[in-house]
Amino acid sequence: MSHSVTIINGPNLNMLGTREPEIYGSETLADIEAKCRTLAGELGLELDFCQSNTEGEIVDWIQQAGGSQSAIILNAGAYTHTSVAIHDALLACGIPVIEVHLSNVFQREEFRHHSYISSVAKGVICGFGSQGYEFALRAAAKLTN
Ligand code: DQA
Repeated sequence: MSHSVTIINGPNLNMLGTREPEIYGSETLADIEAKCRTLAGELGLELDFCQSNTEGEIVDWIQQAGGSQSAIILNAGAYTHTSVAIHDALLACGIPVIEVHLSNVFQREEFRHHSYISSVAKGVICGFGSQGYEFALRAAAKLTN
């Protein structure tokens, strides 16, 4: 049986490519999705890939993934540092969560050092740019084996 993984991207990640490229790189979210789809195919994973600027929509997707997917890879953007609602949804979803950030949030402003996701995630990958999504997919493949 093939496993399904959902990659959820939070606010402003639709702006990748033009958004602070010195921090986030020059690839667009579509470029990252294409790389993830190629790797997911190689790993035998089915992939859902989505982005929203809306906290409630992200909560809805986490709830849906809990009933249908094997793991969640989540870059919640700024909601990482603010959202108790996303924290609670992850706690309730019952499947492993891998937290990803393009930038090394610990080298940045103090307010980015706290995450509401890390305490309910299986692991955290940050600071490796778009490669972090690929590392997370490989981790998800191992977790769901
Ligand atoms: C981010 C880091 C967050 O602090 C920021 O708000 C983002 C992107 C990252 O991928 O490095 O939007 O999650």
